[in-house]
Amino acid sequence: MTIKIPEPFFSKGFKPLLFVLALLPVALLAYGAWADSLGANPIETITRDTGEWALRFLLITLSVSTLRRIVGWSQLIKLRRMLGLFAFFYATLHLFTYLWLDQFFWWEEILADIIKRPFITVGMLAFMLLIPLAVTSTNGMMRRLKKNWIKLHKLIYPIASLGVLHFFWLVKADYREPIIYLIVLSLLFAERIWHSLKTKRI
Ligand code: HEM
Repeated sequence: MTIKIPEPFFSKGFKPLLFVLALLPVALLAYGAWADSLGANPIETITRDTGEWALRFLLITLSVSTLRRIVGWSQLIKLRRMLGLFAFFYATLHLFTYLWLDQFFWWEEILADIIKRPFITVGMLAFMLLIPLAVTSTNGMMRRLKKNWIKLHKLIYPIASLGVLHFFWLVKADYREPIIYLIVLSLLFAERIWHSLKTKRI
């Protein structure tokens, strides 16, 4: 089902504008750190914010194809790589906040934490799987890997699922936020299944 909505004019300035907007969360965190306004536990605020933005960008990246199919805006595809790389950017900041500000690069403790706490194990796995996607995001890699590129980039599905699981696992009482992410992810998956059944391509 395609709802025909006239494609907005994606002028040349739109992508740079989106780039600047995507940097806003990290800019606000940097300003908060400078102004000492990140609350009682600034490290926790930075960890949580960067983690949430990593997950949001993963879901935004996944929604590009869905939106393209539903409203027929073909130009949207030009933004997908940048959005995916922002997911990697925020996940990297998130990981480094944990490694540096939380654990002070104390590798024995970090390793023990990865083994001991399932939500850290799952987060780490999600991050490891993101690395090959970021590394192969260039046009050259796309050409070189051909069909394998598409197969490899399907890793975004387990990565986003692990991101949601990571959130569920770390929450202790209030599940409202991870439930919202789960609903969004399930809707994106459902649209894909529906689309591939319709086109008989899974
Ligand atoms: C793709 C990878 C990842 C995604 C999408 C992700 C996402 C998230 C999200 C959404 C939160 C919850 C934020 C909130 O409470 O509002 C979070 C928290 C957290 N994540 Fe991740 N994460 C990822 C990888 C990792 C990795 C690799 C580590 C460490 C090795 C990690 C460690 C943590 C920690 C320590 C917290 C805070 C837990 C707490 O406040 O109790 N995450 N992450």
